[in-house]
Amino acid sequence: MEQKREQWGSKIGFILAVVGSAVGLGNIWRYPYLLYSNGGGAFLIPYFVALFTAGIPLVLLEYGFGHKFRGSSPLSFARANKKFEWLGWWPSFSSFIILTYYTMILSWAMNFLTFSFGQSWGVDTDSFFFNDFLRISSGPFDIAGMRWPIFIGITLIWAINWFISYKGVSGGIEKLNKVLLPTLIGIMVIIVVRGVTLPGATLGLNKLFTPDWSKVTELGVWIDAYGQVFFSLSLAMGILITYSSYLPKKSDLNNSAFMTAFANSGFEFLCAIGVFGILGFMATTQGVPIEDVASQSIGLAFVAFPKVFSLMGPLGTVFGVLFFASLVFAGLTSSISLMEAFASAVVDKTGSSRKKIVTITAIVGYLVSVLYATGAGLYFLDIIDNFINSFSIVVVGLLEAIIIGWVVGADKIRKHTNSVSIYRIGKWWEIMVKFVTPAILIYMVGSNIINELSNPYGGGDYPSSALMLLGWGVVGAIIVLAVISSTTKWKKGVLEDIDSEEV
Ligand code: PHE
Repeated sequence: MEQKREQWGSKIGFILAVVGSAVGLGNIWRYPYLLYSNGGGAFLIPYFVALFTAGIPLVLLEYGFGHKFRGSSPLSFARANKKFEWLGWWPSFSSFIILTYYTMILSWAMNFLTFSFGQSWGVDTDSFFFNDFLRISSGPFDIAGMRWPIFIGITLIWAINWFISYKGVSGGIEKLNKVLLPTLIGIMVIIVVRGVTLPGATLGLNKLFTPDWSKVTELGVWIDAYGQVFFSLSLAMGILITYSSYLPKKSDLNNSAFMTAFANSGFEFLCAIGVFGILGFMATTQGVPIEDVASQSIGLAFVAFPKVFSLMGPLGTVFGVLFFASLVFAGLTSSISLMEAFASAVVDKTGSSRKKIVTITAIVGYLVSVLYATGAGLYFLDIIDNFINSFSIVVVGLLEAIIIGWVVGADKIRKHTNSVSIYRIGKWWEIMVKFVTPAILIYMVGSNIINELSNPYGGGDYPSSALMLLGWGVVGAIIVLAVISSTTKWKKGVLEDIDSEEV
């Protein structure tokens, strides 16, 4: 007897889990700056075009694909067309690699959560983060020593990930998201409401939204919009395919796709308002222009914001705790989805128990993550993350659109999603998936490759051997592993077993 596939306990559980994956560090520390630096209000045009021509069509594609073939990404591809199973493994391995460094960022956030109580980052937050906390080494080949506070954080995050995954889809992932996502939204609303009432907040908000229409004509701005939509919706990672494979047969996929995309965009927008309100306060208090304080990514979270929190006095302690808690919560719900995209693939292929696979994955992943807890960790993260985002994810998205759109058949997927949904998707969707999305993604991949070749990542800061090894090498290794995995044998009967799970 085949085992029944696990299922979400409710539709809302599924939506929360997908939104939990989508809402992550990208929403909090990437989107606000992107909006600000790419033309403010004017950026909303490329952003929404990207959402409707690539974001939502691909969410629907992945939902439909995973739901129709009822499997993790490799299982769905293998069932659709055995020749393309490798393409299913590619995002699963990317997910695993991303998970190993996502864990490190969460460990930083956890550490900073504890620092917030005493604002122990002092006055020079930049030096505190890089020299005292990370003890950053001289380059990617200088491992330096182990950073024990980061090591402890990584251990804790892996333990949580392991425990949640071990508990299964409805007993672990769904429960985690049901608690963390509403909490996260609540925290963000508090940050935003208090943030926009700080003195000087309007300065930040004006800067954020004032449209610079000339930007709309710049190609780079459009690439940024597509990149953000792609990353933010957790596309091309095997996550949405896997999550939708746990839905009951009759599930309104079309409606869910729009709901997740809008929920994610809404949250991004909320974060942008909060972040720029706070940056406006900082600029005003220090008497400097917004340009001098606006930043993104780790510079925003671990350098600029700690500084603002110190400026706020006791209120800053509350803000600090809430902010770093929001990073940890947003990151946990994303990292659990990365874990699932990988573990479910191995469970499907080998037929072993979830508990066993999750435990092995957690141990191996943890051992890899520990490498990032060294003085060279930030360099590893920076190089690997850039190559995975610029090449691995975009290429997988492109191949998915082409293979599912043309070989498996966009019409078949549309027929499937329409047959289970209340609201029906029109022919426009097939045109998007078969022509528009691939054309845009080909352009993106091409320009990323040209960019990297003419101007290697890091602007000369990294030796080319490091880029070879950690950049091209890691992406190459992911592809090789994907191809090898696709040649191993499936557990007997799994490929044919698609209709055995009656719902
Ligand atoms: N979507 C997440 C964000 O916006 C990032 C992420 C990408 C998480 C891929 C998991 C997988 O931050």
